[in-house]
Amino acid sequence: MKIKKAIIPAAGYGTRFLPVTKAVPKELLPIVDKPMIQYIVEEAKLSGIELVILIVNHGKEAIEDHFDINYELEDTLRKKGSNGLLGLIEGLSDMIKIVSIRQKKALGLGHAVLQAKHLIGDEPFAVILGDDIIDAQRPCLQQMVEVYERYQKPIIAVQQVAREDISRYGIIKGTQADDRVYLLDDVVEKPSPETAPSDLAIIGRYILTPEIFDILENIPTGAGGEIQLTDGLKVLLKHNGMIGYRFEGERYDGGDKLGFLLANIAYAMKRPEIKDKLVDYLKGYTR
Ligand code: UTP
Repeated sequence: MKIKKAIIPAAGYGTRFLPVTKAVPKELLPIVDKPMIQYIVEEAKLSGIELVILIVNHGKEAIEDHFDINYELEDTLRKKGSNGLLGLIEGLSDMIKIVSIRQKKALGLGHAVLQAKHLIGDEPFAVILGDDIIDAQRPCLQQMVEVYERYQKPIIAVQQVAREDISRYGIIKGTQADDRVYLLDDVVEKPSPETAPSDLAIIGRYILTPEIFDILENIPTGAGGEIQLTDGLKVLLKHNGMIGYRFEGERYDGGDKLGFLLANIAYAMKRPEIKDKLVDYLKGYTR
């Protein structure tokens, strides 16, 4: 079955980015001049997604506005003849169909995904985290959709991480079945490097089957009284099997200060009008 819907959970508090996230949604922080979530929605579109379901909370209305029409601004730019600028915002409102649902309490990523149950129905769907930016020639989600078509099993995107970072992630245990493809036996949340079953970490892209909803509704709350998606994935894995897919591309953790800054530098390097001056500045920078 084709993957047509993507859930983008964006109802977290973004505490690692306080104070800016007190009033500004983390997902709207810019990578150069585009909000992080726009990269995510563009990736969804390029991967064949037809409906994006945003999970938001109080204070995230500006995300909805970003993907809406702003007649006044468009009209002003049109009258000024600023066609270049107009082109940057004009297509945003009809790029893809977007609906938003409120997660009334931040009870975890699993709980956020559960909010979209009634809009998904009986079909496989994607989950893309609003702050995991992946720079890839072929969009990461598109790569995963192709793997889903081959294996017809839930897919989680993984990346190799340095030994010292292993304990920050969910880590997969499995056997390699093909280039970049792993058949999973288990996922282990934040293991120590000594006990970790691999160095392949789960990142913010998933293709899931609707069985996950019943599972999430029935699992006990995990760490911090939250419904953890990883706990649900463990059960789904036992029922349906699951694939870990080591995607092609560079991932930036936009929810982390350093990851966010690195993403800004990497994307700025692609802009001819910025690149040379940025390189000069960085070369001249001494500790
Ligand atoms: P994170 O824990 O990375 O994001 O959750 P956060 O809570 O926004 O940020 P910090 O850790 O406090 O700095 C991963 C993703 O899950 C979403 C977040 O919006 C983020 O995209 N999420 C998390 C929800 O939508 N609801 C939740 O209850 C928890």
